[in-house]
Amino acid sequence: MVLALVPEGRQTAEADRTIIVRRVDFSEMLARLDRNFTAEGDVISAHVLAVLSGLFPDGEEMFIEAVKHHRDFVTDEDLKRQVNAFIGQEVIHGRQHRDLNARLAELGYRSKIVEHFMQFDEEGLTPGMHAVLQVLTKVGPFRKLLSEMEERRAERGDEGPDPMFELALTAALEHYTASMAELLLTEADLQGLFADQDLFRMWAWHAIEESEHRAVAFDVFKAAGGDEEMRLRAMKIAGWALVFITSWHVTIGVLTDRRSWRNFGLPRSLWRQRRNPLIGRKFRRRLADYYRADFHPLQRDTSALEQRWRAWFDDEAPRPTPAESLALLKF
Ligand SMILES: [Fe+2]
Ligand SMILES: [Fe+2]
Repeated sequence: MVLALVPEGRQTAEADRTIIVRRVDFSEMLARLDRNFTAEGDVISAHVLAVLSGLFPDGEEMFIEAVKHHRDFVTDEDLKRQVNAFIGQEVIHGRQHRDLNARLAELGYRSKIVEHFMQFDEEGLTPGMHAVLQVLTKVGPFRKLLSEMEERRAERGDEGPDPMFELALTAALEHYTASMAELLLTEADLQGLFADQDLFRMWAWHAIEESEHRAVAFDVFKAAGGDEEMRLRAMKIAGWALVFITSWHVTIGVLTDRRSWRNFGLPRSLWRQRRNPLIGRKFRRRLADYYRADFHPLQRDTSALEQRWRAWFDDEAPRPTPAESLALLKF
C-alpha cells in the first residue's frame, strides 16, 4: 500500500513513481481506421469516444498551462521531475488526439467540432448551444457556481480566468481521467466496446499514462496552497461541464448518424448502454472519492496494474485479462 499522505516536508506521496514519456506513432492505425470501430455497430459508444477525443487536446493544453503557472511552488525535486513527465505525456496525448480527431472528422464524427468548441470559436459554439448555455447559467446549480466564480474574480480585481481555479479544475479532471483509465484497464464491458483492437491500443496507452501521472496536478495544487473549498467546487463544475458537453455533442452526433436509423441501430445501441461502465455505479463511486476530506489520488494503489499493462504495451507480455487486471488492484 502506498503511503497516501504526503510525508512531512515532502510534496509528493510517492517519490519514485514511474511516469514515462513514450514516443508513440499511431499513424498506420489512423490511416486505415474504419467508421465502424465499435463492437456490434454501437453507434452511441462510437460518438462518445469521438467526443471524448475531441475534448482532450485543448483540455490537456489547459492542464499543462495550469501546472506550469504554479511551478514555482514546487520545491520537492521528485515532484519537479514528475511535473516534467506530466507535461511531456500530456503534450504527446494532445498531439495524438488531434491526429485521431482529424481522422474521425473525415469519417463523419464531431471530434473537430468539439475541438473548436473547446477553443470557444465560432465553428464550435452553435446558436442552439449558445441558447442552452444562456438558460443553464440562470438556473440550478450552475447559477450558484458561476456567481461564486464571479465573486472571486471581483475580489482579485481582474477579468481573466483564475489560474488557481484552473489548477483545481485540472486536478479534478485528472481524477476523471484516472478513474476512466482504471475502468478501461479492468472492465471487460468497456474493453468490449472496441471492435478495432489497434484503436483500443491507443486508448490503453493514454489510460496507462493517465494512471501513472494521476497525482501530479493534485500535488501541485496542494503545494501551491490550493484550498479545500475550491478543490471541491472545481470537481462539481468539472462534472457538470463534462456531462453537459458530452451529452450535447453525442446526442447531435447520434441523431444525425444514418446508422442510428438502419437495422434498429439506435435502439440496439441504447440497449447496450445498460452495460456501459462509464455510466455505472462503480465509476460514480470512484468519482465520489474525490469529495472525501482526506482524499489523495494515490490512495488507490494502481502501480501493479500500470506495470502489467506497460509490459503489454511494450510487447513484453500478453494482454492481461480483465480478471487478472482487477486482481492487481489491492487496497
Ligand atoms: Fe492525457
Ligand atoms: Fe492527464
